[in-house]
Amino acid sequence: MSGRHVLVTGGAGFIGSHLVEALLERGDRVRVLDSFDPYYDPAVKRRNLQGALDDIELLEGDLRDLGLLARAVQGVDSVVHLAARAGVRSSLELPVSYMEVNVAGTQGLLEAMREAGVTHLVAASSSSVYGARSQGPFRESDPLGVPASPYAASKHAMEIVCRTWQQLFDLQLTMLRFFTVYGPRQRPDMAIHGFARKIKAGEPITMFGDGSTLRDYTYIGDIVKGLLASVDRPLPCAVLNLGNTNPIRLDALIRKLGHALGIDPQVVRSGNQPGDVPLTWADVSLANQLLGYRPTTSLEQGLERFVGWLEQV
Ligand SMILES: NC(=O)c1ccc[n+]([C@@H]2O[C@H](COP(=O)([O-])OP(=O)(O)OC[C@H]3O[C@@H](n4cnc5c(N)ncnc54)[C@H](O)[C@@H]3O)[C@@H](O)[C@H]2O)c1
Repeated sequence: MSGRHVLVTGGAGFIGSHLVEALLERGDRVRVLDSFDPYYDPAVKRRNLQGALDDIELLEGDLRDLGLLARAVQGVDSVVHLAARAGVRSSLELPVSYMEVNVAGTQGLLEAMREAGVTHLVAASSSSVYGARSQGPFRESDPLGVPASPYAASKHAMEIVCRTWQQLFDLQLTMLRFFTVYGPRQRPDMAIHGFARKIKAGEPITMFGDGSTLRDYTYIGDIVKGLLASVDRPLPCAVLNLGNTNPIRLDALIRKLGHALGIDPQVVRSGNQPGDVPLTWADVSLANQLLGYRPTTSLEQGLERFVGWLEQV
């Protein structure tokens, strides 16, 4: 389908900029709201959007600005809400800001949508809402554990706020729980990106814990397919995992990344990090049933593409 008018909040970020390009490619009209937040270098975000700038409407400003939100939602068919303070570890240092942006910011967006009569929202949640679990795969119907970080708490709270609005005002709502997304333009604070730069520079990398933590690394191209399908198929109310269904140990990830880079990584061990969870592992059968979502990129293929991109920036 094409020809929709879509607002993408956080459209200059890692996931957002890939989605913006995919929407443009198929002929959708795109408006982006992004504050170019300094959590990581805003120049990186400007580069992310560079190729799309002539074809989008860019509203530069903060999600917490209610006047800006009112303009941002005017006349759109769907809102894809990706703007957030992301990152588990930094949330332990700035918990208030995580709540202000991820929870209060989302509430402002919902209110702006209601006032403008915009009824379709796709919102980014996170595997972190499942809490610290050692058994998987994680299903959307599972009870959610205690959030292990302020970031996880903010995403859990965001889901509750969206769900409340959905019930009060008949919103069509799809909340997508992303599982560790990676690929070209990945946020520099994330493990694969941070490790790769150090390995390339011949520096040792710090592995927190004993290497046994498991993550379901999901390639950006697969996530974008799930996002596009969510834009195309408004659902009354759904929470869906978007993952790869194949958790990998941290020490194995480091080996595979070293292989993709052609360099043997030097690893320094350190203690467990507060906020980290032992396992993420998505069951994606519901996303498959409702969206036709099926991840197709293996970790090896995805790492190769990521390394190819890193060589060029
Ligand atoms: N990358 C992952 O593995 C992952 C996993 C689970 C969930 N998520 C969620 O997906 C979304 C996108 O993540 P990402 O990795 O692309 O992060 P990102 O930091 O690259 O993108 C987020 C964007 O939001 C913008 N932003 C931040 N605060 C803002 C504010 N107050 N007002 C307006 N814009 C603001 C930033 O400038 C940035 O461009 C986030 O909601 C994140 O929580 C990501």
